Amino acid sequence: MSPPRKLHIKSYGCQMNVYDAQRMVDTLAAEGFVETASVDDADLVILNTCHIREKASEKVYSELGRLRVVKDEAARLGRHVSIAVAGCVAQAEGSEIIRRAPVVDVVVGPQSYHHLPQLLARARSHGRALETEFPVEDKFGFLAPPQPDAIRARGISSFVTVQEGCDKFCTFCVVPYTRGTEVSRPVARIVDDVLRLADNGVREITLIGQNVNAYHGEGPDGRTWSLGTLLHRLAEIPGIVRLRYSTSHPRDVDETLIAAHRDLPALMPFVHLPVQSGSNRVLAAMNRKHTVDDYRRVIDRFRAARQDIAFSSDFIVGFPGETEEDFSATLALVTQIGYAGAYSFKYSPRPGTPAADMREMVTAADMDERLVRLQELIDSQQSAFNVATIGNTVDVLFERAARNPGQIVGRTAYLQPAHVMASTDIIGRVLPVRIDSLERYSLLGELAAPQPTLSQMTPSQMTFPPMTTGA
Ligand code: SAH
Ligand code: SF4
Ligand code: F3S
Repeated sequence: MSPPRKLHIKSYGCQMNVYDAQRMVDTLAAEGFVETASVDDADLVILNTCHIREKASEKVYSELGRLRVVKDEAARLGRHVSIAVAGCVAQAEGSEIIRRAPVVDVVVGPQSYHHLPQLLARARSHGRALETEFPVEDKFGFLAPPQPDAIRARGISSFVTVQEGCDKFCTFCVVPYTRGTEVSRPVARIVDDVLRLADNGVREITLIGQNVNAYHGEGPDGRTWSLGTLLHRLAEIPGIVRLRYSTSHPRDVDETLIAAHRDLPALMPFVHLPVQSGSNRVLAAMNRKHTVDDYRRVIDRFRAARQDIAFSSDFIVGFPGETEEDFSATLALVTQIGYAGAYSFKYSPRPGTPAADMREMVTAADMDERLVRLQELIDSQQSAFNVATIGNTVDVLFERAARNPGQIVGRTAYLQPAHVMASTDIIGRVLPVRIDSLERYSLLGELAAPQPTLSQMTPSQMTFPPMTTGA
């Protein structure tokens, strides 16, 4: 038998890329590849790229420059290294990559990963291969499922893609062009994936999609299911103690999602709900299809359903035409909502998007200054949110041994990392922790009570059902 070939994969960008990378690894495992953390001993290197902002997509070419050296060095020693570019830059600039970077053997767009083995074979026989079509079939129906040991190695928390693509066409955004139109996976496939993950030790599932709450998948009853209905179904799966979803659009929050937050203790009270700007004028120019008031109303509906809910968001500063008054409206909205955290970005014009043709650019100096002001406000909200946890007892789902010997790290409902001194037996369990202090963004505490017996556990503390259901 020939020794396994080694695969090194590097992902940039969003959670969808993280998940896709795992599925590429699973698919290539079936072809005899094993993953390696080092680029130097790899036979195949995949760059899984992101096109969302200029900085992200520029990284590809500098990375390819470094890989050329690795490839030449290996060739000198008589070893062939294949280089593949995947992800959103591959989709947006596939032929340019082929033209500009002779080091690249394969370019594969995000909807064609199930064709990777054939593309690698084609590159071997024909020199190079490019595929950036949007095939009609669902790639996830064809990508190999993860093997039990791969699931266990990845830990107790897992992403599952339920929806891909976007039909919203915000004027700044490349996603509708790189990921294509919105497509939802059928409920039965998602349930199968989650059962498989749960059977192999996964306790927390984050459903992901570029526009995850636009989910409208075919249900087992022949009807179209919403995200809220899907969450209700997944909450029944033995072993799954926490559910999350990301990223949502304020326009697509329906009553089933609100009901899921009201009814499902496993659904974590932490919602990433990007608003981008607090100015109606800017929101209209962005084609966000909602106003500031619409957004506030959505937040109120969540809060009415679940009092302890907290929010995070994304913001863009310096969108073309954004005035100081528009920006102040963003600060006012942040102050009013009060976030547990948020990401903020300077506007970056993306080729092919409508906003890239808008003329009224905000100066670099104004953008920098606004970004600092916004980030200061968000940081102060985030630290107030974290400080408020000190002295409280909160549920933590333990994930893994921490770097400090003897410490185990987990996450609170709000994704705050929390460290305790304990044995590794607690990994995979939800246990109450008394929070004593905060170190930067990490909470430190101790297990609040002796571990409860099964009959004392609340459903959210159970890692396994008391009886197997045979599901
Ligand atoms: N689907 C998600 C966002 C995906 S992109 C949503 O609708 O909210 C993640 C974030 O990147 C966006 O929320 C936005 O804040 C930021 N972003 C997208 N395009 C950008 C651009 N051209 N310049 C700066 N930031 C951008
Ligand atoms: Fe991009 Fe807007 Fe779609 Fe989000 S909703 S992915 S920002 S086009
Ligand atoms: Fe980037 Fe594509 Fe995700 S552009 S953010 S990798 S959808």
